[in-house]
Amino acid sequence: MDNRAVGVFDSGLGGLTSVRELRRILPNEKIVFLGDTLRIPYGTRDRETLHVFAEDDFRFLLSRDVKYIIIACGTVSSNIAAEQLSAVPVPVTGVIKPAAEAAAASSSNGIIGVIATSAAVQSRAYEEKLKDLDPSFRVVSVPCPKLVPLIEAEASEDVGTALDEALKEYLLPIRDAGADTLILGCTHYPLVSERISSFLGDSVTLIDSGAEAARAARDEMSALDLLSSGSGPEVPEFFVTSAPERFAEAAEHFLGERFSHADLVYI
Ligand code: DGL
Repeated sequence: MDNRAVGVFDSGLGGLTSVRELRRILPNEKIVFLGDTLRIPYGTRDRETLHVFAEDDFRFLLSRDVKYIIIACGTVSSNIAAEQLSAVPVPVTGVIKPAAEAAAASSSNGIIGVIATSAAVQSRAYEEKLKDLDPSFRVVSVPCPKLVPLIEAEASEDVGTALDEALKEYLLPIRDAGADTLILGCTHYPLVSERISSFLGDSVTLIDSGAEAARAARDEMSALDLLSSGSGPEVPEFFVTSAPERFAEAAEHFLGERFSHADLVYI
C-alpha cells in the first residue's frame, strides 16, 4: 500500500481524459495533474525540445512526492528516450504500449489506424510497437496538426464545421485503408470521438490512449502493491503553467466534472 499521489502530466488539458478514467477506476487515489498550458503545443516540437520539457514535467511531479507517473501525452510518450525514463525514480507509463496492446487485441482484420500529433507520428512509436506485437499488422498513421487547437477552442467557441472538415481530411486515408481499429494517439482526441465515429462508422473501434494508460497504471500499481488504502473519494490537485482562470471551463470539457481551481506553477 502507498498513499502518495499518482502524478499525471500533459502538454495541456487533454491529459485530463486520462485523469477522468483514473478517477472512474480508482476513486480513492490522490491525483496530482500538471498541464503545461504555457508551452502547448508539444506536437510541433523537435525531440530535443520535448526531452527538456519532459524533464521539467517529471521534476515538478516528483517535487510533489508522487509514487507513479502517467505520461498522458502521446507526443512525449512517443519521443521519450529509454534512458530518460530509467532515470525517473518511480514507475512510469506512457500511452503507447497500453494503446497499442488494446488495438492489437481489438483488431480482426489487422489494419490499424493511428491519428496523433506530427511529432508523435514522426517518431513511428506506434508502428514499431504494433509491429512488435504482430509483424503482419498494417498500420496507417496520419498526423493531425489542426485538431488540438480546434479541440481546445471548442470549449468556448463554435468550431464544429472546421472540426468536421479537418476530421474528414485526416480520416479519409484511414477509411480508405479499411482499418477496423483506430488509435486516438493524442489525449485530446476522445473529446471528438462521436464526430470520428460518425465519419468512420460504429464498426471501427476507437482506442482512447489516455484511458488505456490509466488502466495500465492501475494494473501495474496493483502488481507493485502501490495502490492506496484510502477510503474516501479524493479531490485531485491541478497545476497549470498559464491561464489558471481558464481552467474550470476547460476542465469540465475534458473531465466531465467541474473543479474550479488550478494553481499556477513555474516549472
Ligand atoms: N495532448 C498532446 C498529445 O497527446 C497533444 C497536444 C500537443 O500538441 O501538445 O500528444
